Amino acid sequence: MIRIVCLLIGYVCGLFQTSFIYGKMHGIDIRNYGSGNAGTTNALRVLGTKAGLIVFAGDVLKCILAVLLARLLFAAGHPDMKYLYMLYAGAGAILGHNFPFYLHFKGGKGIAATAGLILSFHPYFIPMGVVLFFGAFLTTHYVSLGSLLVYAGFMIELVVLGQLGVFGMGQAALTELYIIGAFLTIMAYWKHRENIKRLLHGNERKTYLFKKNKE
Ligand code: G3P
Repeated sequence: MIRIVCLLIGYVCGLFQTSFIYGKMHGIDIRNYGSGNAGTTNALRVLGTKAGLIVFAGDVLKCILAVLLARLLFAAGHPDMKYLYMLYAGAGAILGHNFPFYLHFKGGKGIAATAGLILSFHPYFIPMGVVLFFGAFLTTHYVSLGSLLVYAGFMIELVVLGQLGVFGMGQAALTELYIIGAFLTIMAYWKHRENIKRLLHGNERKTYLFKKNKE
């Protein structure tokens, strides 16, 4: 039951689709421009640096809110399940962002929301996320490559830290934790399937933080 509550809390938080709302405030549906994705990268590409930063902040914060709510509500009563519940809430927020019912389930790819999850889940994930994302992005200017590497790193680190006992959970709960992590990773790769094709063909869109981006 707590798992479903955490998922639902997350999903509701994730429904705050910052790029769509920001785009509407500027008279456009972001999903009809650029890559068509309702997310930070496309907001940056189509609406500029300020928009990208605002959208990123909104999408990161909604996932942090979901994870912290789960922690606040359930961690004290279930310390051995704390990380599992937090991951359910983060997963819910990513699902709400990617599949918002009021946009006919056409949302974003969940990467900024995942950054929120990484920032609020466990501090050990932060260096991995920063190094992989900025390492890939600053050298290639492919946001998608950074996003995919972060997910691979997240999944590996989740299993390594889990097996090292960092989460203080029993093996059954750990297995469930890995299944949710794997689900999120597969969903991110599936959401990026067109990006992956373009990366392989060498025609992925490059993104620049402070330079005008081509749509
Ligand atoms: O956050 C999504 C990013 O990885 C790719 O976005 O718009 O280039 O498909 P986009």
